[in-house]
Amino acid sequence: MFRSILVTGGAGFIGSNFVLHWLAGKNGSLVNLDKLTYAGNPQNLTSVASGPAYSFVRGDICDRSLIDALLQQHRPDAIVHFAAESHVDRSILGPEAFLETNIRGTFVLLQAAREYYAKLQGEDKQSFRFLHVSTDEVYGTLAPESPAFHEGTPYAPNSPYAASKAASDHLVRAWVHTYGLPAIITNCSNNYGPYQFPEKLLPLMITHALAGRPLPVYGDGQQVRDWLYVLDHCRALQRVLESGRVGETYNVGGGNQRSNLQVVNLLCSLLDELLPGSPYKPHAQLIRMVEDRPGHDRRYAIDARKLEQELGWHAEETFETGLRKTVEWYLANADWVEGVTSGAYQQWMQENYAVRGAR
Ligand code: NAD
Ligand code: DAU
Repeated sequence: MFRSILVTGGAGFIGSNFVLHWLAGKNGSLVNLDKLTYAGNPQNLTSVASGPAYSFVRGDICDRSLIDALLQQHRPDAIVHFAAESHVDRSILGPEAFLETNIRGTFVLLQAAREYYAKLQGEDKQSFRFLHVSTDEVYGTLAPESPAFHEGTPYAPNSPYAASKAASDHLVRAWVHTYGLPAIITNCSNNYGPYQFPEKLLPLMITHALAGRPLPVYGDGQQVRDWLYVLDHCRALQRVLESGRVGETYNVGGGNQRSNLQVVNLLCSLLDELLPGSPYKPHAQLIRMVEDRPGHDRRYAIDARKLEQELGWHAEETFETGLRKTVEWYLANADWVEGVTSGAYQQWMQENYAVRGAR
């Protein structure tokens, strides 16, 4: 259905899973524009890198002339916008890059898309889409018994990251409303799966547990997230791109609410089972309760009924099946972990964890 698409941030966690999923489905050609920050890793895409349907461009979404040139050269039918600074803890320690990429970068991309779209004609104009990949964190935090976030939940972002994503969502909305850009927004919950950089909860806990290092759980560990297997998310994005209504928002969630302590304990039992000879068994002995994240949101939960009922999407993985696949992937890809946990990563560990006292 799409001849060619432009993906931003396709060398990151969700982006690279999406690129692999898209190309495996023979959905047309794909150009991946990625700045390759610490979070971008072209190694994720070596299996498709030399194929005729894929091209990679290293560059910044804030670079308007580069984006104009890419749009002219590749004439995409859609832009799928993943590129962002995505880690809440980093946004607390250094918010500026989040404003630059997430807000200004999205603005630059919208302006370029708008000008490109204005010159399209006929069927090309009809089918063009701008898909903005956003987060449930824009909705703020939920009390234990509150209903899950739905598409009409008011925005109430609490971290610099969430505020920057909320701002980018507002820009997209305004570009639809004012300029008629055919954009759609998706807001999804916590993704997990292969290729996730080990600064986020699950890959951090997996890589630490394998090395016998402490497993740092923030605060009381009772914060709840709604876990979404990354391939379920990619399938949802494809459904939205193909059949979503312009100007709409679709929430994407896995229907798997778990507290952080439940997640880490489940992971530890799984590692005990998969690594019966490990010297660190039982892995739960590595858990350490540490100082909380400032402004830590207590609970996220997604009501995905709109996506399910309108577009027929359903999450295929339960948390148990998705977690097993994820852990098996990290066990089978020790070289990948080795490659991303060198120099700069060690520095981040120092910055974020060395100062965090025990609770
Ligand atoms: P990630 O941090 O793993 O990857 C981000 C990618 O964007 C990297 O490849 C990076 O090099 C690239 N990038 C950063 N700044 C750039 C710039 N200025 N120009 C071009 N490329 C740039 O992020 P992710 O976890 O894959 O998240 C992808 C998107 O999904 C983000 O927009 C994020 O806000 C959103 N999201 C993520 C989750 C999650 O659980 N990971 C959940 C909800 C929404
Ligand atoms: O909800 C969607 C969001 O999920 C995305 O928009 C973000 O890009 C993504 O990073 C993620 O944000 P979280 O802050 O929820 O994810 P993170 O993996 O950083 O943390 C998950 C939970 O685990 C959170 O309650 C904090 C806690 N945590 C995290 C780390 C890194 C710990 O207890 N210890 C840790 O070391």
